[in-house]
Amino acid sequence: MRRAGSVVRQVLNVVRDAVRPGATTLDLETAAEQKLAELGAKPAFKGYHGYPCVLCTSVNHEVVHGIPSKTRVLREGDIVSIDCGAIVDGFYGDAAITVPVGNRIDGKTQKLLEATESSLAAAIQAVRPGATLGDIGAAVQEVVEAQGFSVVRDFVGHGIGTRMHEDPQVPNYGERGRGMKLREGMVLAIEPMVNAGTAAVEVLKDGWTAVTCDGSMSAHFEHTVAVTADGAMILTL
Ligand code: CO
Repeated sequence: MRRAGSVVRQVLNVVRDAVRPGATTLDLETAAEQKLAELGAKPAFKGYHGYPCVLCTSVNHEVVHGIPSKTRVLREGDIVSIDCGAIVDGFYGDAAITVPVGNRIDGKTQKLLEATESSLAAAIQAVRPGATLGDIGAAVQEVVEAQGFSVVRDFVGHGIGTRMHEDPQVPNYGERGRGMKLREGMVLAIEPMVNAGTAAVEVLKDGWTAVTCDGSMSAHFEHTVAVTADGAMILTL
C-alpha cells in the first residue's frame, strides 16, 4: 500500500505543477493519466460506478467529485481540489490536495486551505491503536470550527485496502471516545471536506459534482494512513 500511496503522491505533484491560470481541468487529467501510465499503475477512480476520469477536480464551491472538462478553465484566484486514487498490485492509495491557482488568493480562502490541511494533520495525530473513530472526527471538527468554517457531513473518509472503499466509514465530525476502536494494521483514507459557509452540499445533475448550497468556497485534503503500534504511518507522503 505504500507503493500505491507513493504513486498517488507522485501524480499529485505532477498535477500541482500543471495548475496555472488558463489551464483546463482536462489538462490536469491528461497530466495525471500520463504519470500513472509512466509509473505502471492503474487508476482507481476511472470506471468506479461509471466515473469517467482518473482525477476528481473540484473548483471553488465544488466540494468533491468534480469531473475534469476541457471547458473548465482555471482562473487566477480560483482554488482546485485534486483527488487521485491508484492501484498497484491490487492495493489502493487515495489522496487529495487543494491548491490555489496563480498567486492572488483572498485571505479568507487562504485561511480555509490552511484550516482544512491542519484539520487533517490533527486527525492523523489522533491515530493510534485504541483511539476511536470519534477521536478522528472530533480532531477535524475542532480545528475547522475554531476557524469559523463548516465540516461537510454528507461525505466521509473510509477504510481502504484491496478495494478503494472498505469499512469503516470515517466521519469528519464526532465525539472523543465514541465509535469503533482503531487496531494495528487498519488502513484509513482520512479526508476532511470543509466549507467556508454552511455545511450543506448538493450533487449537480451530472450525478457526480458536489457543490456547496450557499456557493461558498470548499477545500479538501486526504491521506491514506496506516495504524501502527507507534501511531499513524502516512502512506501517501
Ligand atoms: Co477517498
